[in-house]
Amino acid sequence: MRSDLKEWKALEKHAELYQDIHMRDLFEGDHKRFDKYNISHKSMLLDYSKQPISKETMDNLLALAKACDVEGWRNKMFSGEAINTTEERAVLHTALRSNDKAPIVIDGEDIVPNIQATLERMKEFSDNVRKAGEITHIVNIGIGGSDLGTSMIYQALKHFSNRDIELHFVSNIDATHLAEVLRLIDPKNTLFIITSKTFTTQETMTNAHSAKSWLQRTLSDVDVSKHFVAATQSTEKAKEFGIADDNIFPIWDWVGGRYSLWSAIGLPLCISLGFERFREMLDGAHSMDTHFVEADLKENIPIILALLGVWHRNFLGYEALSVVPYDQYLSLFPSYLQQLDMESNGKSVDRDNADIPYDTGPIIIGGTGTNAQHAYFQLLHQGTTIVPCDFIVPAKSHNPIDGHHTKLIANALAQSKAMMEGRRHDDPNKTFDGNRPSNTIIIDELTPFTLGMLLALYEQKIFVQGIIWNINSFDQCGVELGKILAHQVGEFFIQENEKSTTDASTTGLLNHIKTLR
Ligand code: F6P
Repeated sequence: MRSDLKEWKALEKHAELYQDIHMRDLFEGDHKRFDKYNISHKSMLLDYSKQPISKETMDNLLALAKACDVEGWRNKMFSGEAINTTEERAVLHTALRSNDKAPIVIDGEDIVPNIQATLERMKEFSDNVRKAGEITHIVNIGIGGSDLGTSMIYQALKHFSNRDIELHFVSNIDATHLAEVLRLIDPKNTLFIITSKTFTTQETMTNAHSAKSWLQRTLSDVDVSKHFVAATQSTEKAKEFGIADDNIFPIWDWVGGRYSLWSAIGLPLCISLGFERFREMLDGAHSMDTHFVEADLKENIPIILALLGVWHRNFLGYEALSVVPYDQYLSLFPSYLQQLDMESNGKSVDRDNADIPYDTGPIIIGGTGTNAQHAYFQLLHQGTTIVPCDFIVPAKSHNPIDGHHTKLIANALAQSKAMMEGRRHDDPNKTFDGNRPSNTIIIDELTPFTLGMLLALYEQKIFVQGIIWNINSFDQCGVELGKILAHQVGEFFIQENEKSTTDASTTGLLNHIKTLR
């Protein structure tokens, strides 16, 4: 058990010191604190000086990383070992963004040529759609990892998108989501892209069938195969749905759903941004992967970010992490990160199926700065719970209007300063305890490359934490029960008289809802 390691116990002991240490004093006692606790890679800088740490803390955390063999596991992941043990799969989303042609053999087959061939097809397809100029609307139908990454990136890189092609995202099984999109589009000029690794997800298939019926109703002589494209591992199911072979783009079992935006699931982005921009995003992610593999642990941004999270979660008792991009284009980043982090590390048994006595993944909350300041930051400044923050701040804006961006940056830095220093005051209502940790991540500006770096940074951070907690970050058994029960409850719904087939609350609610319909 990780908590039995001597390195873990040393951190528990070391954490006791921090009951009496205030970060304000750490800054007052050391004017070089920023110089000691920041790391850069390309245009990205991580400032972690506003953390309750010392050299000894970092040494202890790095010793824990060594004891958990983070480097060994990292090599296993990149070389294609089946580290997703519950699903018996390799974890190779990193191969999707690498330009390295060296073979990676999975089940006797080199996967690299398939990746390159699919990227070629994505390029050709997206170039054609952009050149032809007939398609003005693309509707992505997918959910979870087949929606959150793509929709977030479409928003994040809007500055670079082709404004003549609008992307829409339909994920919810609530028909309102589809209905409101259908109101906006012209069927003749619309392409539906069904993104689903399994091609069985209830929400996605229900929406896909309804979209197909709508198209057939609205265009009587429509050739459905010309309006539908699929990105999936289940090519047979996509064919059965009526999608032409040429319009089916493969993904593979070694690409996890929430890590799939780098694959053909990103096809809508290739069309909107152009393939070159999509490639730049892959390159940015690859550059972060290379940093993750090559940089010394002490100078390694994903490792340090992960270790600080472990310090918070397991030794200081902080339960949540607030992620706040100071960039309107990144407004969907917190929702994307919720799935990435919480579906990956929200686990309570370890790799040996033993119950874990220590905490794992944090609760991720977030919002865009400055709006989040006017929403939930009161609790962050004066609440009884300490919630560490990650502030993400581009130095330059794509929309340099008047003095907005200077004010935006000033707000970001003011928030982290207030959280760190606090304020002494005679009136307890106006007192801020401070001593609330934050990281600040600065990038020069939000581009496909820097976004790629940022996303890979969080992916690798989450991977490292999973290794330290000895959990499998790549399965998601916890979402299965709800899916099974949704089918069962759906069956109960259509029964005439619901009596005792399920628990009393569910029965009571079903019967009550029936009286209202
Ligand atoms: O929410 C569970 C999940 O399995 C995610 O991991 C996945 O991203 C999502 O459902 C969608 O799955 P699919 O791409 O197979 O439709």
